[in-house]
Amino acid sequence: MALYVTPEQKEAGQKDFADAVVSRRGFLKGFLAAAGAVGVVTPAAYFGYKAWEGRPVKAGLIGAGDEGGVLVGEHPKEYLEFIAYSDIRPYNKDRIFKGEPAPSPRKGFNAIYGHDADKKILWYEDYKKLLENQDIEAVVIALPLHLHAPVAIDAMKAGKHVLCEKLMAWNISQCKKMIQVAQDTNRVLTIGHQRHYSLLYAHADELLRADREAKDEDRVIGDIRHIRALWHRNNSWPAPDADPTKPALAADVPQPKIRDGWYPPIYEMDFEKLARDIKKYGYKNMQELVRWRLYDRTGGGLMAELGSHQLDACSIFLRSVHPLAVQGVGGKFYYNDDEQGGRYEPGRQADDAVFVTFEFPGPDYYKKDADGKPTSEVKHKEDIVVVTYSSVNTNSFEKYGECVMGSHGTLVVEEEKDIMLFPAKNPNKKAGDKPTGSSVATAGGGKAAVESSGTSGAQAPVAVPGTSAGPVSRGYTEEMAHFAHCVRMHQRAEKANDKEAMQRWRVGDDAPRCHGKVAMADAIIALTSNIAMKEQRRIVFDPKWFDPTLIDAVPDKDLKAKDAEDKVISL
Ligand SMILES: NC(=O)c1ccc[n+]([C@@H]2O[C@H](COP(=O)([O-])OP(=O)(O)OC[C@H]3O[C@@H](n4cnc5c(N)ncnc54)[C@H](O)[C@@H]3O)[C@@H](O)[C@H]2O)c1
Repeated sequence: MALYVTPEQKEAGQKDFADAVVSRRGFLKGFLAAAGAVGVVTPAAYFGYKAWEGRPVKAGLIGAGDEGGVLVGEHPKEYLEFIAYSDIRPYNKDRIFKGEPAPSPRKGFNAIYGHDADKKILWYEDYKKLLENQDIEAVVIALPLHLHAPVAIDAMKAGKHVLCEKLMAWNISQCKKMIQVAQDTNRVLTIGHQRHYSLLYAHADELLRADREAKDEDRVIGDIRHIRALWHRNNSWPAPDADPTKPALAADVPQPKIRDGWYPPIYEMDFEKLARDIKKYGYKNMQELVRWRLYDRTGGGLMAELGSHQLDACSIFLRSVHPLAVQGVGGKFYYNDDEQGGRYEPGRQADDAVFVTFEFPGPDYYKKDADGKPTSEVKHKEDIVVVTYSSVNTNSFEKYGECVMGSHGTLVVEEEKDIMLFPAKNPNKKAGDKPTGSSVATAGGGKAAVESSGTSGAQAPVAVPGTSAGPVSRGYTEEMAHFAHCVRMHQRAEKANDKEAMQRWRVGDDAPRCHGKVAMADAIIALTSNIAMKEQRRIVFDPKWFDPTLIDAVPDKDLKAKDAEDKVISL
């Protein structure tokens, strides 16, 4: 992400970020006090949950594929215990127990619950049967996109609290319905945009907030006019030779010619079991089940799979605002239908590259009320922040991350694990001037290039994730721990018939950070971008779309976009 940055500059950028956070501890004292420590801030203290004294929340996993495996590997079992799961593919049913060798995060049930895990954890072919199990209090859903809404709604109606993977749903009508059902059934509903639970992003957000409050000469980021976000991968290499550790490939379907994670192999063991009556599970054929990301009916393309995470982060960086407009270009520029060619992916509908530009409101775009909160009235219509996003499949230079470009400095978050600050060189500053805020000279020799002004004094260091050695949590564990905590607190409030508290744990200040309304905004951004690219137009976001109570105000309907090939499946 950080183009042309040497290891020394990277190290200096990380140090500058940590110093800038530490020097603003006055602003950050809320969570430091919560941690009850002068040094390390724990995720539990930061996000407001604690280890449960009683038993963990009993959960069922619905969808035990790639992401289900990650969630199993990362789940905090003192908070959330899986007692059942549902999946239909024999290969994934086996893998969810055995896991994969490190460094894969898919540790498998056996590694976590012991080698007799398969005797303790129940399997249901039909997820509706899992929902009938009265011991299950909550479900974690990691299914293909088109199934998120129907299954989450069934689960809430069956009395389960729900953590569903992103994107929230296949369209915005479904998102609104999910929120409505959560309200009607009084269940906790949260969506798996894990950046809401990454300390790395939390610290970046804290720094940006402190920077907005600071005097101009003390600002290290300054006036943000542009954010560049990207996710670049190279899926153009030839497919690997047959792997003896993997099952045999099915002979009756096209198999990958290139290494594309969205076009995985179809194994004979899955084909044999499922191909004959695949329609019973709501799929047209085996390709739709295994390669669901490629088709409009089952997936949402690059913006749903990757862009939604990063636009979620950009919205947070820009004070949790919604974008004003979007336009873009996307297409199948690389993969094709030519059976002879190396890029053959028959029937693929998803774009292989997207380039999208968003206009976000700057800090003075809206008029403010007496409390300083933005109103819906426009004050300065030129006060725009431009966010560009690209995702490509044929070049992995820079990989993925977000680059926040301010007048006083640049904040870079790289691959969800590194964070750097590169303050701009102030040409007016003379040698010997007292440094204000942070000032970077040239980084080199592993020496910190930043000096922080005034406030840091002799305080103890704060451990800032992504700026020191050791693995950085991407937020899955914290997301599941907080979800379980909210479920328990909600149950307690329900027992006491405390309606105000129930509401608070579901959608209020104490609720999961990515509850329905937050996640719906991410879905609106991703899915409206798809319409803008498909119809080659600039689309202005209607504030009504973001209101979950206005059931009929949805972009696909308002914009009269062409329907996908079929109606979305409802089981
Ligand atoms: N938060 C993240 O960073 C992240 C990363 C990757 C994927 N995801 C999301 O996780 C979800 C799953 O993605 P994935 O990569 O694991 O896909 P996958 O295809 O590997 O897994 C999906 C699983 O669902 C099962 N399944 C399908 N239909 C079913 C049904 N009717 N009943 C029971 N099981 C059924 C499949 O057999 C498969 O095992 C997607 O929504 C994806 O966007 C999130």
